[in-house]
Amino acid sequence: MAFRTIGVVGFGLMGSGIVEVCARAGYDVAVREISDDLLSRGLDRLDRSLARGVERGKVSAADRDAARRRVRGTTRLEDLARCDLVIEAIVELMDHKKALFAELDGICPAAAVFASNTSSLSITEMASVTRRPARVLGLHFFNPVPVMKPVEMVRGFLTSEQTLAAARAFCETLGKTVVLCKDSPGFIVNLLLVPYLLDAVRALEMGVAGREDIDTAVQLGLNHPMGPLTLLDFVGIDTTYYIAEAMYQEFKDARYAAPPLMRKMVLAGHHGRKTGRGFYEYAEGIVR
Ligand code: CAA
Ligand code: NAD
Repeated sequence: MAFRTIGVVGFGLMGSGIVEVCARAGYDVAVREISDDLLSRGLDRLDRSLARGVERGKVSAADRDAARRRVRGTTRLEDLARCDLVIEAIVELMDHKKALFAELDGICPAAAVFASNTSSLSITEMASVTRRPARVLGLHFFNPVPVMKPVEMVRGFLTSEQTLAAARAFCETLGKTVVLCKDSPGFIVNLLLVPYLLDAVRALEMGVAGREDIDTAVQLGLNHPMGPLTLLDFVGIDTTYYIAEAMYQEFKDARYAAPPLMRKMVLAGHHGRKTGRGFYEYAEGIVR
C-alpha cells in the first residue's frame, strides 16, 4: 500500500501546512474547503508559507513552483474520489468529523485510507461511521507543519498493521518523525500541553500577572520558544477550547476544564492570530 495522491479536507492553519509538506514531498494534492473564499485564503496561506521557506533558504524557487503545481483546490468533496489517502483537518468537533467521514466513505474506493489530524478526539469513534475501520487512523501533525518534526500516529481500536505501516512510510517521506500512540484523549503531547495552557489562562484570570509577564516568565524561565498565551493565540483559542472540552468530557478531571475566559473569547470571536485578536492583537496579513 503506497500513497500517490493525497486529499486534504480543511484548508485552515493545519490543512495548509499539511498540503505544503505533501506537495513539497512530490505528492499530488487535492484540497477541499467549504467556500471559494476559504479556499482562496488557504491558497494564500500556502503561498506565504512557501515564500517564507524560500526566504529562509529551506525551499528553492523551482521546488516551490513545482509544489504549487501539484496542489488542486476544490469546494467539492467528490473531487477527492481518486485519492489514496485523505487527511482531514477540519474543526475539532466530533459530529462534524463523523459527518465528513461518513460522506467520504461513500465517495472514495474501499482501498483508500482515511486519517484524522484531530488533537484529542477518538479515532475509533470516527472509524465507526465508515465501512473501513481497519483503514482509519490518526495522523496528528504539529503547528507549524512545515517546521515541526513529529507526527503522532494514532492506532484506533480496529486500525490494521498494514495501514499503520503504510502511514508511517508516508510520514517518513515527508521528513517527519513518527511516534505511535493509542487512541486516548489528547494522545501524548496534548495530554501534557493542554493542562499547562489552561493553567496559564487561570493565572491570568486570577491576576497572578499580566499577559506579557506570564509569557515572558515562561519563555525565558523555561526556555520555550513562546509563552503560553502567545502559543494559545498561535494554536487558536477556539481549537484549544474544543480540545479541552473533549478531554474534560472523557476524563471528567478539572485539569481539562476550560476556564470561563476562554469560553467568552470563543463566543466573542477572539480566536487568536487567525482572527486578528486573542490574548494579543495582530495586524492584518500575519503569515501564520
Ligand atoms: N518550510 C520549511 N522551513 C521553514 C518554513 C517553511 N515553510 N518556514 C520557516 N521555516 C524554518 C526557518 O527556516 C527556521 O529554521 P532554522 O531555525 O533552521 O533557521 C524555522 O523554520 C523557524 O522559522 P522562523 O525563523 O520563520 O520563525 P521563528 O524562529 O520565529 O519560530 C516558530 C516560529 C517555529 C513558530 C516558533 O516560535 C515555535 O516553535 N513556537 C512553538 C510552536 C509550538 O509549540 N507548536 C506546537 C503547538 S501544539 C500543536 O501543534 C498540537 C495541537 O494539537 C494543538
Ligand atoms: P482552522 O480553524 O484553522 O481550520 C479549520 C478549517 O476547517 C476551516 O478552514 C473551516 O472552513 C473548515 N471546516 C470547519 N468545519 C467544517 C466542516 N464541517 N466540514 C468541512 N470543513 C470544515 O483549524 P486548524 O487549527 O487547522 O485545526 C484543524 C484540525 O487540526 C483540528 O482537528 C485541530 O484540533 C487539529 N490541530 C490543530 C493544531 C493547531 O495548532 N491549530 C495542531 C494540531 C492539530
